[in-house]
Amino acid sequence: MKLPENKVELVKRGNKVVYDLGDKIVKVFNETKPLSDVFNEALNLARINECGIRSPKVLQVSEIENGGGWAMETTKIPGTVMAEKMLAEPGHFYEYLEQFVDLLIEIHSYRCQQLNRQKDKYSRMIKSLDGIDGTTRYNLLERLDGMKKDTCVCHGDFNPTNIIIGEDDKLYVCDWAHATQGEPAADAAMTYLLLSIQDKQQADAFLEMYCDRSSTPMQVVRQWMPVVAASELARNREGQDRDALLSWVDVVDYQ
Ligand SMILES: Nc1ncnc2c1ncn2[C@@H]1O[C@H](COP(=O)(O)OP(=O)(O)OP(=O)(O)O)[C@@H](O)[C@H]1O
Ligand SMILES: [Mg+2]
Repeated sequence: MKLPENKVELVKRGNKVVYDLGDKIVKVFNETKPLSDVFNEALNLARINECGIRSPKVLQVSEIENGGGWAMETTKIPGTVMAEKMLAEPGHFYEYLEQFVDLLIEIHSYRCQQLNRQKDKYSRMIKSLDGIDGTTRYNLLERLDGMKKDTCVCHGDFNPTNIIIGEDDKLYVCDWAHATQGEPAADAAMTYLLLSIQDKQQADAFLEMYCDRSSTPMQVVRQWMPVVAASELARNREGQDRDALLSWVDVVDYQ
């Protein structure tokens, strides 16, 4: 693949740059990103496309000419990112939150049997996490083992920066790198943690609305939080609030 001169940089992070090519989007990864992760993200997206969820279509994974790294190309969804709308129109925040919650519940209504299993992913991530002691790790794995299993499509990183309000007024979801099949309450717990790092009040409003609209007991979502916080910590994302996440991990009760 050759990147055109007129590309527009949308996002730049530690291990990738996202470009707008006009009618396509290209995510270019540097050499620290394992190639298998790039193909896994593309495979997740192909599976999500096939199960009918409104999302960008995956077009190709290929190497950029002259050693520019590996890249994944998708269709572009013309529209505005929901996070931008929420910031620009604070008076309409709760209307966007309703759409956001209903979209998460809609995603959980899909099934995709080929997706990786959420429990396997969380277990692998907890085992890979440095900086926690053996007892905490054991407690987290025990807790994970005791949680209910389900097979719903879970996004794994559902937050307003990954939702695009299309020009057709429909909502589209991008960034399926962490998608699995599993328990919706775990996915909601991840969204709660991601939101709470930005704004605790908004996160609480999300949790209340999600539990109400999906008839999920709030304590079930809360039981997932230590496990989900540990797996988010293991991602080691740029800008993550390690102290806040570690305080969630420590909520594990030692009974
Ligand atoms: N297909 C698309 N159409 C329109 N905009 C897109 C599309 N894909 C990505 N974007 C824009 O680029 C931004 C970054 O893309 P994406 O969310 O996939 O990467 P990321 O957040 O860096 O990934 P990660 O969360 O895995 O680190 C999105 O927030 C969105 O604004
Ligand atoms: Mg994203």
